[in-house]
Order: sequence, then C-alpha cells, then structure tokens
Amino acid sequence: MSFQDKTPSAARKGVNLAPILAEAIGIAREAGALLRDLFDKPRKVSYKGKVDLVTDADRASEELILRRITDTFPDHGVLAEESAGGRVPRPDPMPDYLWVVDPLDGTTNYAHGLPIYTVSIGLMVHGVPTLGVVYDPTRDELYHGGVGLGAYLNDSPIRVSAEADLERSILATGFPYDLRVSVDNNLDNFTRFSYASQAIRRLGSASLDLCYVACGRLDGFWELKLHPWDTAAAAAFLPAAGGRITDYAQNPFDIFGLETVATNGLIHGQMIRIIAS
Ligand code: IPD
Ligand code: CA
Ligand code: CA
Repeated sequence: MSFQDKTPSAARKGVNLAPILAEAIGIAREAGALLRDLFDKPRKVSYKGKVDLVTDADRASEELILRRITDTFPDHGVLAEESAGGRVPRPDPMPDYLWVVDPLDGTTNYAHGLPIYTVSIGLMVHGVPTLGVVYDPTRDELYHGGVGLGAYLNDSPIRVSAEADLERSILATGFPYDLRVSVDNNLDNFTRFSYASQAIRRLGSASLDLCYVACGRLDGFWELKLHPWDTAAAAAFLPAAGGRITDYAQNPFDIFGLETVATNGLIHGQMIRIIAS
C-alpha cells in the first residue's frame, strides 16, 4: 500500500486550493495522454482475479501520477489503486492531505479496445473529498472542481439534470468483480431499476458515471463495492454541480464505504426507496 502520512502540522491551515487543483489537472492530462498513446498499442494484460484485469497501461499511468504527486507534494499521503493492491480501510489516523488515485478507471473497456475510460485524481483534506479531476482522454473532456471551487467540464460550469421523475430517468450502474461468487452482486437492484426507470446504462467507468450525473447526461447512478479511487475525485465536485451522493440509507457518502447512490438530487429519494424495497 502506498499510503503514508507525512503531513506537517504547519500545513493544516490557510490552504489555497486553486493552485493545487491546477497541478492535479496537469497531472491528469499527462496521464490521460499516456493512456491515449498506449490505447492502440498491443497491451500486456494480467489478471488480479477471475475477471479483474490490469494492463501495463494502468501501471504506467499510476507510476507517472505517483511520481508527479510525490515531487510536487512531498508532504502529502497517497492512496493509489495498483499499489494499494486491494480493498483498504479508512486510514487511521487520516492524513491531512490524501491523494486518492485511479490511474485508469475502465480497465476492462481499455483492455478490449473500448474507448470509455478515465484518469481519476481526488484530494481528501482532513478526511473530506475536497477537490477532484476526472479526465476522459478519448473525448478530451476534463471534469474538475471541488468544495468552494465549483464544478466544470473543461472551461464550462456544469449542472445536474432537472428530471424529477424516476420513471423518465436514465441511470447507470456497474457490477463488482466478485459478481460470480457473491450474492451481493447488484443484479437484484439492476432488475428493480430496469422496471422503475426509463433506461439503464453500464459504461464500465464509475468515475465517468459520476461525472455524467454531475453534467446532466445521466440522472442517477448507483453501485455496490466501489473503491475509494473510483469515487474520491467526482464526489468532491458533484455537490457543487447540484448533485447529491450518499450511501443506500442516505447517510453522508464515505469513499471507504461499500454503497454509492449519486443523483441530481430530485430523484434521490425515489432511488433510495427502490433500493430499500
Ligand atoms: C471499475 C469501473 C467499473 C465499476 C467497477 C470498478 P476499474 O474500475 O469503475 O465501472 O463497475 O466496480 O472497479 O477496475 O476499471 O478501475
Ligand atoms: Ca476504478
Ligand atoms: Ca483502475
């Protein structure tokens, strides 16, 4: 696990987030360019589990991001998917600044040559998702923002949709890698929402699903057993776009928790009721 807390107490006050966000944007763009360059090249794929892949591109992207973060913010903690090596608990103690990194969100798509994937970089400040960048290199779409920073797609402010009726809503979801061996595999809720919504999509990149809720392309998203690196970045700016993100019981969202529901706010209660039914 690459997690480490070296944050000096002097750094606890007076944080100007804008230059930190600008650095994160630069890093996400660099890693995204690397992934785009490697996309058409032959890939080395290995298996972390029965269906859970990792490619040489995931590793190269993570190496680049970790090097850049460590050089720029030597006092900050870092939690990154490939070096974490599996599910991790909420760090105790929590570092003041913790970068949470998915170097390639949408690995299965990427490995199959399906161009739906992102780089996702979030920063937790005092345990709260505070700023985030999600970069979709294929479309050159960069989502960014955070607490007090707004929410943007490239240079334009973004806003969630105005759809208030679940029956007319387009939703997205995903399925955990242990789908074949665990009964908590989301197929029950997939069935329920198939009847209750207008349509469901499975894009294969949870960070992008969350960004699509933030910019109104989707009305809602739910998923079970996501990891902190899937959600940390977008969870930081979804509220600034007018969105709502909680667990299945409407508790405040915890990136280390197992349940995610993210919506335009208007259909949140309706989605929670379906999940509880
Ligand atoms: C996966 C994607 C997918 C979601 C999985 C994630 P990865 O991340 O976000 O949409 O359904 O639960 O693990 O493995 O491509 O980084
Ligand atoms: Ca991921
Ligand atoms: Ca990943």
